[in-house]
Amino acid sequence: MNRAIAKTVRKFEVLASKILPLSRIYMYPYQHIVQREIELADVEPGAQVLQIGAGSVPYTALYLAGMGDFYVTALDIDPVAVKCAEGWVQRMGYSDRVRVMYTGGNDYSLEDIAAAFIALQVEPKEEVMDYLMDQGQQGLKIIVREPSERYASQYDPIPDKWVPVSRIYQGMSTFTYSNLYIKA
Ligand SMILES: C[S@@+](CC[C@H](N)C(=O)[O-])C[C@H]1O[C@@H](n2cnc3c(N)ncnc32)[C@H](O)[C@@H]1O
Repeated sequence: MNRAIAKTVRKFEVLASKILPLSRIYMYPYQHIVQREIELADVEPGAQVLQIGAGSVPYTALYLAGMGDFYVTALDIDPVAVKCAEGWVQRMGYSDRVRVMYTGGNDYSLEDIAAAFIALQVEPKEEVMDYLMDQGQQGLKIIVREPSERYASQYDPIPDKWVPVSRIYQGMSTFTYSNLYIKA
């Protein structure tokens, strides 16, 4: 599969992680996106949450910590992204609220995790969601960005077998909705 967007974003995020003013401009449009996801998740401030797919500029994790008042563990399977992200989080002054780990979204202890926020580019979504639904505590909230029809070929789809309990309109070109799933 040719994921041209993912390749471009990867390169750009590595660069932006070294230049704080650039990363601030880059992350700004996502502030309202993450705010809506925090409202959708409806999790208590102070909770421990996962962000799966940190990238080199883990802005979602940082907004979750800053606006949701959560303790965030951000995961990535790309060692370069993890190294860049660790430095960026430190320089942004969030080391006490966000930790970055080199591991996949289907290979992490879910004890005490209240919610998991899955990035658009995470693959394979089915494996990651199956793991969360299987291993997560009862009531675990899972928030997933759903690829738009236009860019469907660029992202792994959310499997049809998982039916969202709610969703919120985001209106981005690459993803239209953020969906909420809850472990029964
Ligand atoms: C470009 S980033 C976008 C995230 C963005 N920086 C944010 O804060 O929302 C997407 C990342 O997801 C990671 N990724 C893809 N599949 C993954 C998986 N199964 N588990 C963890 N990370 C994954 C990729 O390595 C990539 O770094």
